[in-house]
Amino acid sequence: MKFFIDTAEVSEIKLALERGWVDGVTTNPTLIAKSGRPFIDVIKEIAKLTSGPVSAEVISLKADEMIKEGTELAKIANNIVVKVPMCEDGMIAVKKFTAMGIKTNVTLVFSVVQALLAAKAGASMVSPFVGRLDDIGSDGMGLIADIVQMYQNYDFKSEVLVASVRSPMHIQQAALIGADIATIPYKVMQQMTGHPLTTSGINSFLADWNKAQTK
Ligand code: E4P
Repeated sequence: MKFFIDTAEVSEIKLALERGWVDGVTTNPTLIAKSGRPFIDVIKEIAKLTSGPVSAEVISLKADEMIKEGTELAKIANNIVVKVPMCEDGMIAVKKFTAMGIKTNVTLVFSVVQALLAAKAGASMVSPFVGRLDDIGSDGMGLIADIVQMYQNYDFKSEVLVASVRSPMHIQQAALIGADIATIPYKVMQQMTGHPLTTSGINSFLADWNKAQTK
């Protein structure tokens, strides 16, 4: 299972890289805006930090403009993946990018049929947003299981990228389902290292050690 980090903060990517938690990076317009830096500068810097796929999202909503924008983004580095929102024009762009040999990540996927269309257009990765589905009382991880099953049924090559991750439980479930990738906020990566019994175990080992030293 591959781990992408879901951030546009270079400092977080460096921390995660040091810990072996980065097989790639995903960004989105919200994350770029939060970084307070110019889009292209951030993407250039991130693409140098890792050789893994770096998703950079197009802003346009018309196919021809998406194609123009994505073609420019793909020129930044050979690990750029053009992120395209799920919509009719997006599918035209994905089909074109696929023909051009440009990798794509279809984002804002919330149903099995959207994932089916993205795979048919040739998407390299498809991003179902589990947290946002859970937020509206729907079953985010159920959607992941269904998409993984559907791709297996037809031997689609698109990778399932679990997005909008909110907790370590999402990662556990994604791994058990067999999703290809999860994109994870740094905070959730940190949460994944912890367990109350690990903390109490470390504390009691240290206390016993220190007691023995003072004897
Ligand atoms: C995925 O690529 C998106 O950047 C991200 O996972 C969205 O997550 P959110 O629902 O926490 O904004």
